[in-house]
Amino acid sequence: MTTEIDSISDITHAQLLPRYVRISGNLYGAVFTLMKIVPARHILRAALARGDLGPDTLIVETTSGTFGLALAMEAALLERRLVLVSDPVIDVGLHRRLRDLGARVEICSEPAEVGGFQEARLRRVAEIRASHPDTFCPEQYSNPDNPRSYAVVAEEMLRRLGRVDCVIGPVGSGGSMCGTVRTLREHNPQVRAIGVDTHQSVLFGHPDGPRTLRGLGNSLMPPNLDHTVFDEVHWCGAGEAHAATRALHREHALFQGPTSGAAFQVARWWAERNPDARCVVMLPDEGHRYQETTYNDAWLAEQSLAGADLSVKPREVAAPELAVGTWDWFPWARRSFEDVMGEGR
Ligand SMILES: Cc1ncc(COP(=O)(O)O)c(C=O)c1O
Repeated sequence: MTTEIDSISDITHAQLLPRYVRISGNLYGAVFTLMKIVPARHILRAALARGDLGPDTLIVETTSGTFGLALAMEAALLERRLVLVSDPVIDVGLHRRLRDLGARVEICSEPAEVGGFQEARLRRVAEIRASHPDTFCPEQYSNPDNPRSYAVVAEEMLRRLGRVDCVIGPVGSGGSMCGTVRTLREHNPQVRAIGVDTHQSVLFGHPDGPRTLRGLGNSLMPPNLDHTVFDEVHWCGAGEAHAATRALHREHALFQGPTSGAAFQVARWWAERNPDARCVVMLPDEGHRYQETTYNDAWLAEQSLAGADLSVKPREVAAPELAVGTWDWFPWARRSFEDVMGEGR
């Protein structure tokens, strides 16, 4: 009798690759339980193989989101100690889960003058590393193993869908979009990449500012973001992202988080305008963490985020700094940041 028992491994292996669903005619969803398992597993296992992660090595990373959860899962499986440096926005449920997985969570209470909490967290990571003889920092924002880890996602995407013409996804570190699209382009250089960001994120040329939509966008420029990958950039508002997340659930029974909603909103519009293109939208995590926010009408109303109009079309802007509406897009055209924004920015 043949059996697949040898292919059964641990939970991060089982949850590594997304499920694929057909959302509409030419639009497919890559539905992840927790996309950040892809870089967390790859980075830690690559470090282990190189000998950088001995039994006494302390793993230290700054994160207030899903990368921390994925690292905590992987660290528990590898029996390694983990310190996560976070800030006050970390949600209670995630905090509990991280602790339950054995991670030590340190909260920075004050933002840095420039770079906000993200900079304050990086400084704390540096302090911990300086005071400990043997540490390993996964550094999702700069470690090339982050984008590299998505090669398996791209290869499997091609196996499942046969052909992919366009990938649409949220951008935070840049790892998932850049890594997936680079591998797809080794097979077909024409594959289009549509990045989804939010206003007042520095990633595609906005000045840093307060953002209500979490999980995408950034206050600091991550070295892993290769701007030349992107054909288009969209900036989505929080109200639209939450409403689109609910529509994804209501209409397609896909229970995902708000970065999935933001990407879905853009993907639906793009796929409709390009009916001959086979489009894949990256849906990075599930909705459980957002039950009290995105999925809670009272919270949305309190935050003045309820009732966003999803029939609105995006406005094309002539420069990133002109993207000040609720949903704007810019033809980035695979240019470098300097080419678009000018030298010295
Ligand atoms: C929920 C969620 N969606 C999307 C992203 C963006 O992915 P990436 O960092 O690969 O650009 C992140 C990043 O942390 C995330 O946590």
